Amino acid sequence: MNITREQVREGAYGRAYRQSIEDPETFWLDAAKGIDWVSEPTQALDSSNAPEYQWFPNGTLNMSYNALDRHIEAGRGDRQALIYESAVTNKSRVYTFNELRDEVARFAGVLASHGVGLGDRVVIYMPMIPEALIASLACARLGAVHSVVFGGFAAKELASRINDAKPKVIVTADGGIEPNRIVEYLPIVAEALALSDAFVDAVIVKDRPEIPGGAKDGTEWVADIVDVDWYDWDQEMTQAAPHDPVPVVATHPLYILYTSGTTGAPKGVVRDTGGYAVALSWSMRNLYNIEAGQVMWTASDVGWVVGHSYIIYGPLIAGAATLVYEGKPVGTPDAAQFWRIIEKYKVRSFFTAPTAIRAVRKEDPQGELIKKFDISSLQALFLAGERTDPDTYHWAVANVHPKVVDHWWQTETGWAITGNFIGLQSVESRAGSGGLPTPGFNVQILDDEGNPVPTLGEGNIVIKQPMPPGTLTTLWRKHKRYFRCYLKPFPGYYLTGDSGYIDREGYVYVMGRTDDVINVAGHRLSTGQMEGILAAHQAVAEAAVIGAADALKGEKPFGFVVLKHGVDTPEPVLRKELIQKVRGELGAVASFKDVVVVHGLPKTRSGKILRKNLRQLVNGEKLIVPPTIEDTAVLTQVQIAVHTYLREKEEAQQARAQAAAAEPAQEASPA
Ligand code: COA
Ligand code: AMP
Repeated sequence: MNITREQVREGAYGRAYRQSIEDPETFWLDAAKGIDWVSEPTQALDSSNAPEYQWFPNGTLNMSYNALDRHIEAGRGDRQALIYESAVTNKSRVYTFNELRDEVARFAGVLASHGVGLGDRVVIYMPMIPEALIASLACARLGAVHSVVFGGFAAKELASRINDAKPKVIVTADGGIEPNRIVEYLPIVAEALALSDAFVDAVIVKDRPEIPGGAKDGTEWVADIVDVDWYDWDQEMTQAAPHDPVPVVATHPLYILYTSGTTGAPKGVVRDTGGYAVALSWSMRNLYNIEAGQVMWTASDVGWVVGHSYIIYGPLIAGAATLVYEGKPVGTPDAAQFWRIIEKYKVRSFFTAPTAIRAVRKEDPQGELIKKFDISSLQALFLAGERTDPDTYHWAVANVHPKVVDHWWQTETGWAITGNFIGLQSVESRAGSGGLPTPGFNVQILDDEGNPVPTLGEGNIVIKQPMPPGTLTTLWRKHKRYFRCYLKPFPGYYLTGDSGYIDREGYVYVMGRTDDVINVAGHRLSTGQMEGILAAHQAVAEAAVIGAADALKGEKPFGFVVLKHGVDTPEPVLRKELIQKVRGELGAVASFKDVVVVHGLPKTRSGKILRKNLRQLVNGEKLIVPPTIEDTAVLTQVQIAVHTYLREKEEAQQARAQAAAAEPAQEASPA
């Protein structure tokens, strides 16, 4: 059923949206009733320091109290709060609100015993285990500021975050479990500490019995690498006294979450407490349509913003159970894993990345595995992290659930900028669109000069200030960078860094980034950062990295290097070294596997690398050469190098496939 512009405008969604823009004060003070305040705010928006805005400036609250204690006080302490399901260890455990609150209060006591208090930072580097949530909520209980670092990042990345956040304590585990290997965290933490110049008082390690040589087997060897005291989580917990929630002002930072920018230095997005609590509470009801007692599963990682908002805080604030999944969509053990878990726990709202659905689809194109499970508890499938391509959207509608909600997000915004507000008024979803603007987000399209672009015209997607509660307040220690990156380019607007258009009924289509950020399997990565790593190799004079189209991961990095004069290392050897360098410094998550050696990089006469042309070459698209190109011969040479590389890669893949196909036949044939 097609929806008209009038239906969008006049329905419950349209009314809410209008009020949020025209009268934000009333709208958000009303939404603030979803939160239990220590002292209730009487003012929603403080614009006195515009273009910096503050939400609920005179409210005080505690986030962990809102996520845990208040549900216990309301008589729901025995209900499930956290469901842990690990496909890589075959373990599962359900924590009630009582149990989770007790663990959180006790771990808050542990942190306090190490001197962590209001405003102190704690870096959390953990796999997808309940303790990652317990540590975060414990920080929130103390008014300490957590900074969770994704476990797929390497030591150097962890070090840059430690250097910037300057934590008092680091909380980690002895390792994570990937399907093909164990990722030992302690050497990574030790190396990161050795690389950083921050002074850290203590590292608290959760021992996992599955990891050989883990924390309980002794940390003396790591203590030799870096001078820091290591503590065992379990032992600390037996000694600690539970800590009560500490009230903080609404504007107090809850966490710093680092995300990729265009340079090598990650941006530390700062989230406030009160505005975030209100935004999440509003979204749980109106976007995810979840209330107390129901189950929400966000199959992401606590290291990403989606994990912060809808694995850790959102569901718990709503009094719902949050499902913490350690595993992959496929291969752990198979492509039915999502549906098996949805059936087992009667998941109501399921949220994952399009890349995960593509991975499932590849293994189960007809959706035969889905039919084997009762997933009727699902009310919708939520997708974000990258644009849901129309093919994936249609497959999901046909095979998973008729209601598929693609919603557009950023680490900076903390929650969805656009979506389909099924708890308020469910409207049709449109393939390829991230949906309608979320109340509070005044989304507009501007050209590069700052002029409004007419309906359906593509341009820079911006959000008119003020943005709603829950959005970033600054970049940690980099307030000027915050202004420069987001507010200065178009005064009065927040620059999203995404480009796209809005259709006649107001649906927003996000088509790509306008900067050097790429999206690999729903993970946001900086090509500039990878270029820096490549260029630092002793053989490399210059490097460029672009996002190549990938059927599974959306995009994958593809590198080009120009060698220094006189370097004669064979290309395969160099390629191996470069791939290992990116993996070792940025992390496996970059999926950096392709790099070619070229004589020069195509540039404009003013020296700008023609990345668009590099992308076109790698993706086999039509080459549109700008008149400003300095030397077309360089581009032709790059073209030959790319073709040769891709052809050789394909031949090698075919040879491997043939060898694999021949293997069982050989085994079966009599010797
Ligand atoms: N710790 C350590 N290493 C990690 C890791 C972690 N937490 N997460 C991923 N990695 C490693 C993987 O082991 C892999 O290493 P490899 O090169 O040795 O195989 C590499 O990083 C790339 O990982 P990933 O992107 O997860 O690719 P994959 O091939 O293992 O799986 C998908 C592909 C599509 C199944 C997977 O990317 C996926 O589930 N994506 C969803 C992403 C998501 O939830 N995004 C959050 C936004 S909502
Ligand atoms: P991150 O900050 O890691 O959440 O990445 C944010 C970026 O991912 C956005 O700026 C977009 O480029 C992209 N993105 C996230 N969700 C979507 C979506 N639903 N549609 C299109 N792009 C998306």
